[in-house]
Amino acid sequence: MSVTINERPFEAEVDERTLLIDLIRDEAGLTGTHAGCWEARCGCCAVLVDGGSVKSCNVLALQVDGAHITTVEGLAREELLPFGDGAGVPVEARGVDVGSLHPLQAAFRDHGAVQCGFCTPGMLLVLVDLLDRNPDPTDEEVREAIRGNLCRCTGYQKIVEAALDAAQRLRAARSVASGS
Ligand code: FES
Ligand code: FES
Repeated sequence: MSVTINERPFEAEVDERTLLIDLIRDEAGLTGTHAGCWEARCGCCAVLVDGGSVKSCNVLALQVDGAHITTVEGLAREELLPFGDGAGVPVEARGVDVGSLHPLQAAFRDHGAVQCGFCTPGMLLVLVDLLDRNPDPTDEEVREAIRGNLCRCTGYQKIVEAALDAAQRLRAARSVASGS
């Protein structure tokens, strides 16, 4: 099968039981997509498939043959150092410009919306999907979007604040780009 992951072509031989999360983590080596429950309940494994968020533990790899997949590694405009070469070192210390983060990642950082970080990749992808469809969501709409994403640490409030702030940043960036 062949897919595009984070705008790069990727091919793998899989069997009919291979899950999308296995394709991403084991075949493509993108371990930013986390596995929590394997039962479509925690949302940690969410990725974008052709722009829409899906729980990758609940989709067969062969179902997405030919699709465009975005994982958390594809959100920042600048590529991070490969895993194992700087793992555990803060982003700033790894020479990655914080300004290159996706606005949602930057807002999570600024609002302290990350604690252990296990839920964060799934939260980010689900919220990227929301903000793409709804650039000006209400507090309730953000909470509804992350209803399938469990976080044991933050109490959700800071995640909601970060999402609303990111929406504002994205709207501002769009209006600058359009000259209005
Ligand atoms: S690992 Fe997929 S939803 Fe929990
Ligand atoms: S930050 Fe720890 S589970 Fe969400």
